[in-house]
Amino acid sequence: MHFFTTFIFTILAFVSLVSTAPVLSPRDVFVPPVLKPNGHSVWKIGSSQVVTWNVTAAPKQITNTEAKVILVTKGRLDFENPLAQGINVLAGKATITVPKVTPGRDYQILVFGDSGNTGEFFEITA
Ligand SMILES: *[C@@H]1O[C@H](CO)[C@@H](O)[C@H](O)[C@H]1NC(C)=O
Repeated sequence: MHFFTTFIFTILAFVSLVSTAPVLSPRDVFVPPVLKPNGHSVWKIGSSQVVTWNVTAAPKQITNTEAKVILVTKGRLDFENPLAQGINVLAGKATITVPKVTPGRDYQILVFGDSGNTGEFFEITA
C-alpha cells in the first residue's frame, strides 16, 4: 500500500512539473511551405534556379528570420552544404545554383529557419 501511494505521488508531481513548463508560442515559429521546386520541376546541374516558399501565413513575430535552403537527397538533409543561407525567410524566394549530384528524381528542397518544411520530390538532370 505504501509503495502504491508513493507511486501515485510521484506521478502527480511529474504531471504538475510538465504542465507548468513554459511553452514556446507557436506564433513565433514559422515553418515555410516550399512552393517550387514541385513535382513538375526538372533542374539541370549547373543551372540557376529560384526556390520559392509561401510567406502568406508568416507570423508577425518570427524568432529566426534567417533561412537556409537545403537539398534533401532520398530523405537525407545536407546541412553541411546549404544551397543558400542568410536568406530573409520573409523574402519567399532564393536563387540557387543546382549542384553536381547524381541525376535522379529523389530530390527535395527544405527551407529551414526555426523549423522547416520539405517540398515535393523533383528531378535533377545532367
Ligand atoms: C499560401 O498560404 C496561404 C495561407 O496558408 C494559402 O491560403 C495559399 O493558398 C497558399 N498559396 C499557395 C500558392 O500555396
